[in-house]
Parts: sequence; structure tokens; C-alpha cells
Amino acid sequence: MVLGTAAILLVCVGYHQTSLPCASKHHEIGEVRWSPASECPPGTECGSVIVPKDYFDPSAGTASIAIARFKATKFPKKGTVFMNPGGPGGSGTRLATQAFADLIGEDWDILGFDPRGINKTSPQVKCVDSTLDYNFFLANTVLQQGFTVASSSNLSDPKIEAQLVEQSREFLALKKTQAELCAKNMGDELRYMGTANVVRDMDFMAKIFDGEDGKINYWGASYGSILGAYLVNMLPHRSGFVVIDGIADPVNWSTEPSHKWPINWLASTEKTHRLYLETCSQAGPDACPLAEYADEPYEDIEARLESFFDRLAVAPLSVPFTSRPGFLTSGAARALLLMFLERPPQWADSAQAFAEALAGNGTLLFNKLVAPRTPEYVRLGVTCMDSPPPASPADVPTAEDLAAEFIKTMQEVSPHFGASVSVGEPDGGCQYWPACGPERFAGPWNATLEWPMLIVSNTMDPITPIQSGLRINSLMPDSTRLIIQNGPGHCSTAIPTLCTTKLVRGYYAGTLPQNGTMCETSYTFFPDPESKPDGAVLGALDAEDRRLLGSARVAGELLQELRRG
Ligand SMILES: *[C@@H]1O[C@H](CO)[C@@H](O)[C@H](O)[C@H]1NC(C)=O
Ligand SMILES: *[C@@H]1O[C@H](CO)[C@@H](O)[C@H](O)[C@H]1NC(C)=O
Ligand SMILES: *[C@@H]1O[C@H](CO)[C@@H](O)[C@H](O)[C@H]1NC(C)=O
Ligand SMILES: *[C@@H]1O[C@H](CO)[C@@H](O)[C@H](O)[C@H]1NC(C)=O
Ligand SMILES: *[C@@H]1O[C@H](CO)[C@@H](O)[C@H](O)[C@H]1NC(C)=O
Ligand SMILES: *[C@@H]1O[C@H](CO)[C@@H](O)[C@H](O)[C@H]1NC(C)=O
Repeated sequence: MVLGTAAILLVCVGYHQTSLPCASKHHEIGEVRWSPASECPPGTECGSVIVPKDYFDPSAGTASIAIARFKATKFPKKGTVFMNPGGPGGSGTRLATQAFADLIGEDWDILGFDPRGINKTSPQVKCVDSTLDYNFFLANTVLQQGFTVASSSNLSDPKIEAQLVEQSREFLALKKTQAELCAKNMGDELRYMGTANVVRDMDFMAKIFDGEDGKINYWGASYGSILGAYLVNMLPHRSGFVVIDGIADPVNWSTEPSHKWPINWLASTEKTHRLYLETCSQAGPDACPLAEYADEPYEDIEARLESFFDRLAVAPLSVPFTSRPGFLTSGAARALLLMFLERPPQWADSAQAFAEALAGNGTLLFNKLVAPRTPEYVRLGVTCMDSPPPASPADVPTAEDLAAEFIKTMQEVSPHFGASVSVGEPDGGCQYWPACGPERFAGPWNATLEWPMLIVSNTMDPITPIQSGLRINSLMPDSTRLIIQNGPGHCSTAIPTLCTTKLVRGYYAGTLPQNGTMCETSYTFFPDPESKPDGAVLGALDAEDRRLLGSARVAGELLQELRRG
């Protein structure tokens, strides 16, 4: 295993550690090509910006970054805010909307763009000929079904480790297959992906749109927090107003191999899971069909779910009557629960889907699993350029290493979800990735900024925990402000609040919130199916606040949709 992987391991040499301005001979570099309005999302101008494919080598030619701009409606205009929805792999062009203009301020141009490798930006990471082929490739593999560990397992039992090793071997083989397809179909083009390159693209575009001295203003959520942290630390003198929401730890991201990221991401997951069970219990069976009666001990609901996962570990549930008939595994069901924890607005639906599955009908749950997604390799095109390549053949992660990491994560951080991240966040296997870029940024992470960056963290974000927000804040104590939304979900936009929304909008208008400001949430996770939950809350607000909260909800739903990919 080790020898086989070492053979294709590329040793990356000659990374540029310093920034160089691009000096290009290609006359079209810097050109903005606008598309006819009929081809653009409504209300936007769209097109592409021609940038150097490699900022360190003019001979590499050009790349084309797809953009969409929702123009400022209030003047004087302050500048341009670049937007990223997360993923990595999410298309940013769709963020150029009125909803985001409301959140950031009408005196800014909202500039959504598809980052390197993604969607309409070219080169695009496209490793198979059709989406159909890719769905066949994924179907019924560990990539889609996740890793199964029975919850009653004794994690010190070598048999459990052996089961995880076996699943990890399949996982790595599938990652290798994708990497080899990407090598064949993309070749050298894969070198030009990765977060450092995207930072340089934003720098390049900011100069075009806001002039040579125009600062880079930015808003990003989830993986977008990584892009924001890279931006302010790579180019501190160029960064302007920067907000990141739902924080992944950039130190971990850039210095640990990607199969070791989840242990860092799951720090708040158990707490979120507990809230899910408790609020379900309080809501009772009419609103949360997983509860047998109102105020049932949450442990009893948990025990029923766990014994369901255990039954599936012995025998998967057949799911015959869907558009893609198949079967639900324990690993998949658990991974779905983790994904639902990110989305409190879907908690009620998820309880319905789980209750039906517990009763033997897995249709609703299975449909969530096989919904179309952005191919994994688009994400690997970014993550495998950002995470460090193995320093030596001995560092190449083996199936045994992956299994050991799962066990460690279950023992130390998240007993329920320590092996469940890969379905929603498909990382790992970067040792097969066939490219190294011209630049990989790995800190330092303590830049000094003229205008502090705003960090937004939820107290119960099951995949980007507040500990990561606190880490960036402690590395840049005078150059960041942390605001905390007291509630569950992935990013503050999962449960939009007026408090957070106004602090963010105020930030772009020039008001820095106090570090540590706490925004409370008030949310009915399992609404009474008979009631109209929003009427009371929205009705009590004035027109301006109602509009703001409405926009925050639209923005939150859009982000959810874009990240599903
Ligand atoms: C770009 O993303 C949209 C969804 O946001 C999708 O409908 C479209 O097919 C994608 N285009 C390409 C070229 O990937
Ligand atoms: C778990 O497995 C280990 C190794 O086989 C064994 O020593 C230990 O007694 C087991 N623990 C329990 C609670 O069964
Ligand atoms: C990554 O996160 C894990 C878990 O929080 C931690 O043990 C490890 O030291 C971190 N690594 C780096 C380089 O920050
Ligand atoms: C299974 O659940 C689906 C979705 O709720 C429903 O449409 C279908 O009728 C159910 N099948 C059976 C056999 O109850
Ligand atoms: C920033 O971090 C680097 C690397 O950790 C360290 O060498 C440097 O002294 C730090 N700079 C400041 C201003 O703290
Ligand atoms: C910012 O606020 C958080 C939360 O109160 C606190 O833990 C952190 O230490 C503060 N950071 C600084 C630099 O004071």
C-alpha cells in the first residue's frame, strides 16, 4: 500500500512564499467580458474576468473567472464586496442578489464569483464525461454510504478497527480512482486551483473594479471562512471590510492532511445533537414524531435512534420505491443526521424522515442521500491543493491511519459522529491528487489589519465550531472582532437573527461591534404542524426590520442550497 502510493506521490518543490505582482504580456489579461443581460441572473450584470492562470508564470496563459454583480443602489458607492458561499465547490455567482445587498448594504456592489475550478469558471475541474457516469461511480459505495460503526461497539476491540480498515481501503481506492481520472482528463490544469490562487484572483479583480488602491472587501461562510482567513493573512495590506461566518480553522486546514480535519470540526457536534433530541422531546410527537410522548427523556429518543443505526449495521434497510432504488446503511443514516444538525429549519422534516425509517420506510431519508451533489473531485481540486502533501512515503495516510483517526475522533470528540463526516464533507485521499500548485499558503496567521476582520460563530455549529472562531480571534486579537450567535446550525445564517444581521450590516457601514457581543436566537425547532410559525415574529417588527430579516432568511436558504453541492 505504502509503496504503491509513494510511486505516484508528487513532491512539491519550489512553492513561492512571497507575493509577486503579475507582469503579463497577454493583452487580454484584465479584460472584463460582459455577457448579454438575457444570460445573467435577474437583476445582475454578469460575465467573466480574464486573469493570469498562474500569477508566478505568465507563460501559463489565462483563466476566466465567472462573475455576477448586483450593483449598488445607494450612492456614494463604497466599493465591491466579493462573496463566497462555502463548499469548497459552491458557485458564488448566485450570491449577487438583493438579499445579500440588504445584508451588506445598498452602497456596495455585491460581486459573486465562481472560484477556480468551479462551475462556469474555466478551467473547470471536470474529471468524468457526464454527471450520469459520476452518479454510477458513487452509487452504493462508501463515499455515498459513509462508514458504519455499530454504536454498541467497543472501540478498543480490534474487530471494530478491522471493520473500519476494510471500509477505509474501499474509500482510498475510490479516491485514487477519482484522482487518476482527474489526472487523465485535466492534466496540468489542476495546478491552478486552490485557495491561495483564489485570493490572488480577488486581489486582481478588486484592482479592476475599485482601482489600484481599492481594498479587497469580502464576505464568506463555511469554507468561505478559510478563503477569508487566507485573504487577510496573505495580503493584510490589501484587505478592507472582511466578514467570515461559520469558521473552519485555517491553521488546521493548511497544516494537517485532510483526513485529520474532522476531529477539529466536530468540537460542538455532540452539544448540537443533544439540543436536537431535547427540543424534539419538548415538542412532543405531534411536532417531532421521534418522541413517543411530550417531555420523554431525551436519552430514550437517542436510544431508539441508536438501536435503529445498530439494526442497519447488521442489515441495511431496503428502499425499493424511489427514483433510484437502493438500500440505506447505518453509516448513511448517521451521516444524514449529522447533515440535518447543520440545518435547524429542517429538524422537523428530518424527524419525520427518521420516524418513517424507524418504522421500516426509508424512502424520505434515502432521497436526501441520493439527491444530486457537486462531484467530490471539484472539492478535492481545492482541498488537495491546500492541505500539505505527505512529507515522506512514511507519512502517506494508510487505511489503518484513517481507521485510527476515526476511532480517536469517536473516543475524544464525538462518539456519535466521529466517523460520519465524509458523506457531507468528502475529504481525504489527497495523497493521490496528481497536482501541486505554484503556491500553497500555510501562515503565519497573525497579520495586523488596519480595519479588523469580523468573525461570526454559533455556539452550536456542528461542523465549524466556535473554538475555530476563537482561535483566529486569539491569533489576531487586535485585528479581529468575534461576535457569537447563541444557537445551533452551520453558520449564523442557519437561523437568521436581526441582531447578527444588523451587526454585520453595521460593520460594512463602519461600526465595529464589541468583541464577544452575543446575539440570542429564538427559534421553534419543531413547530406545531397546525401553526403558522412566522406570523407573530415578523408582525411585531417595523417594516425595515421585517425586510432585513426576510432577506436574511432568503440568503440563508440560498447558502444552504449552494452548499448542498
Ligand atoms: C453552475 O451551477 C448551477 C447551479 O448553481 C448549475 O445549475 C449549473 O449547471 C452549473 N454550471 C456548470 C457549467 O457547472
Ligand atoms: C473492549 O475490548 C478490549 C480489547 O478487546 C477489552 O480489553 C475490553 O475489556 C473491552 N471492554 C468492554 C467493556 O467490553
Ligand atoms: C488540528 O485540530 C486538532 C483537534 O482540535 C488538534 O489536536 C491539532 O493540534 C490541530 N492541528 C493544528 C496544526 O492546529
Ligand atoms: C414510504 O414513504 C413515502 C414517503 O413518505 C410514501 O410516499 C410511501 O407511500 C411510503 N411507502 C409505504 C409502503 O408506506
Ligand atoms: C506571527 O507568527 C509567526 C509564526 O508563528 C511568528 O514568528 C511571529 O513572531 C508572529 N508575529 C507577531 C507580530 O506576533
Ligand atoms: C473576544 O471575545 C471572546 C468571547 O467573549 C473571548 O473569549 C475572547 O478572549 C475575546 N478576544 C479578545 C482578543 O479579547
